[in-house]
Amino acid sequence: MRRWRMRCEGSAAWMTLAGERGIGKTRTAQAFATYAGLRGAHVLWERGYEGSGAPPYWPRAQAIRSYVRRRDPESLQRGMGAGAVQAG
Ligand SMILES: Nc1ncnc2c1ncn2[C@@H]1O[C@H](COP(=O)(O)OP(=O)(O)OP(=O)(O)O)[C@@H](O)[C@H]1O
Ligand SMILES: [Mg+2]
Repeated sequence: MRRWRMRCEGSAAWMTLAGERGIGKTRTAQAFATYAGLRGAHVLWERGYEGSGAPPYWPRAQAIRSYVRRRDPESLQRGMGAGAVQAG
């Protein structure tokens, strides 16, 4: 929740839920996504599979790519705030 508050204050943060199989990570993430979505957050889902052989961060790159493609450049840059780097 501390990271969520940081995000609300304008700094981006990734959150990772780690734990034993079946402990409730997905369910917690779904509840949190609902909470955040109701408060205006853009929620991106990524899904990785053990032993899939995909490069590191592949699911995250896919989630970000599809999000970026749906947004226009101006609103994207606004959303990224002061930390955004102008890419050629
Ligand atoms: N707080 C809870 N109250 C009741 N049931 C719960 C709760 N959290 C999780 N469950 C149930 O426990 C089961 C496992 O939860 P979940 O799928 O979220 O675990 P997971 O940590 O994501 O598992 P995996 O490591 O296999 O991905 C599900 O059937 C889910 O509905
Ligand atoms: Mg899960």
